[in-house]
Amino acid sequence: MQALARKRYVETRIAVNHRNSNGNRVGRVVNSGRRFKVRRAFDDFALPADRYSQSRYDEHMGSVTKHYDIMKAFLAGARRHLLSEQAKKRGVVSLADVGCGTGELIAFIVKEVYVPFIKAGGKVTVTLIDPAGNMLEIAERKLAGLKMQLPKGLQVKLLQKFIEFVKPGEVIDNAGGSCDIALATYVAPWVENVGTIYENTAKLLGRRGKLISIEENPLVLTPSASLPEDFERVLAECAKAIEPNELVRIIRSAGFRKNRGVGAETPIDDQHTMYLEIYTRK
Ligand SMILES: C[S@@+](CC[C@H](N)C(=O)[O-])C[C@H]1O[C@@H](n2cnc3c(N)ncnc32)[C@H](O)[C@@H]1O
Repeated sequence: MQALARKRYVETRIAVNHRNSNGNRVGRVVNSGRRFKVRRAFDDFALPADRYSQSRYDEHMGSVTKHYDIMKAFLAGARRHLLSEQAKKRGVVSLADVGCGTGELIAFIVKEVYVPFIKAGGKVTVTLIDPAGNMLEIAERKLAGLKMQLPKGLQVKLLQKFIEFVKPGEVIDNAGGSCDIALATYVAPWVENVGTIYENTAKLLGRRGKLISIEENPLVLTPSASLPEDFERVLAECAKAIEPNELVRIIRSAGFRKNRGVGAETPIDDQHTMYLEIYTRK
């Protein structure tokens, strides 16, 4: 397994370019408390079994089963975008999962769409991006299970980073070219500057690369007796609701055009829906 940085409780320090009163560039170090909290919250959520029992984790996942069932149904419906006719002809697909979390959805896609393609001789590269190392480990385990069924053809790369700080080369070089598809699901509400997720994602994609976005409207944090109070509090502090039209506007200004007639929206309960949109990089 690729080594992951394990400094979980160290506050993130970010060097930024800053202009002083004379207009000259000077280096400055800023602390992003919110980023730190987001990473800590998700890392805690996925604590290894010896620190936080697997059964509690599974219980929480059980409480969001309906959300994931809907998202999986959306993705199954988006099959032709995940594996286009051109990709089938080329025999190669590369995909980045931005804020992959525990990899529930990417594992689903690989199993449903890409395992048959790989068995028929195709090659798939998946780059998993997430700042929370424990989340990445769970995601990697799920994909390793699928890889065992496939002697070759599936390559998985882990990037323990906030998408804001991913250099396109880190993904593109590994994928053997720009990515065909980026997945960003249930991630927008946690990011400090939402536009930057999509601007950076656009840089990973080749021209006409696709972005698949799934979010909840309005975002609601499912209360769960199985989660530590501290975790719930931190998540609630970090999450922000983004209205769907606002998200479309943000993604468009990041360099995408929305594909008409391919979106989907399904109720989770009588007040909340999940919605999918597919975009093409301009
Ligand atoms: C609610 S989870 C969703 C995970 C996954 N996409 C899914 O649908 O199951 C949100 C994930 O976004 C990650 N995240 C938060 N801020 C991020 C950032 N700036 N860049 C990349 N990932 C981020 C969190 O660590 C967490 O794993």
